[in-house]
Amino acid sequence: MSARTVLSLVTAVTALTLVTTGCTSTKTAGSGGTEITLVTEGKLTTCTHLPYEPFQFRKGSEVVGFDVDIVDLVAKELKVTQEVVDTPFEGIQTGEDLNAGKCDLAAAGMTITPVREENLDFSGPYFDATQALIAKKGSPYTSLASLKGKKLGVQQGTTGETYAKKNGAGVETVQFEDVALLLTAVKTGQVDAAVNDNGVLFEYVRKNADLAVTTEFETGEKYGIGVRSGNTALRKEIDKVIKAARSDGRYDALYQKWFPAAPKK
Ligand code: ARG
Repeated sequence: MSARTVLSLVTAVTALTLVTTGCTSTKTAGSGGTEITLVTEGKLTTCTHLPYEPFQFRKGSEVVGFDVDIVDLVAKELKVTQEVVDTPFEGIQTGEDLNAGKCDLAAAGMTITPVREENLDFSGPYFDATQALIAKKGSPYTSLASLKGKKLGVQQGTTGETYAKKNGAGVETVQFEDVALLLTAVKTGQVDAAVNDNGVLFEYVRKNADLAVTTEFETGEKYGIGVRSGNTALRKEIDKVIKAARSDGRYDALYQKWFPAAPKK
């Protein structure tokens, strides 16, 4: 076989790979010598759903937050820059966006669940969370039972929605697309209370003294960063970076930066 035939064979194989994965094939050397394919050359593209303060939210023209900083550590390791794509949570948690090549990874304060694990792969856990209840300060809504016949706001496609529907017999759930709409509904009295992740609710009440977190549900959730099923090279790279950051103090520094009110771990 001439050198030329080999070359065109390689080209054909590459072209085929491009068609089947729908990705621009950018090879970036992962630090373990493995090759990581990114959807856009020179960028680590993150799917997230805004706002989810303090994990990801807009500050001026920038998207900032704990998750953004964690992914920046991965981008730095890969010597690329992070680009954040804001997209509805449903497409993130079903793995659809990752499969479509919309992004390389999903970092959205997303809980690792068995159902999601069937549709995408998760990094190791990087943050603990639990569901919590938010209501007007001084209100009697301190449990799901107390909300019988009342309106409880939930965020579409989230573990909070699943929890409320499963455990809130006789509670009328009202679905909201994002957490900003959900929390505004509590503030304006459109719903009596809302369920969502504790970190996000505690951040909100810190800035909105008219509301209070009235209880936590101990759901024992852990956030993971999602990658397309089978993207082991990128998943391992993320795990490696998180592990290093945990042991060299960078993780703790980010924790302090975004959760200044939390008890020191
Ligand atoms: N942790 C919850 C879940 O995984 C809520 C996540 C919502 N995140 C977001 N960026 N909107 O279902």
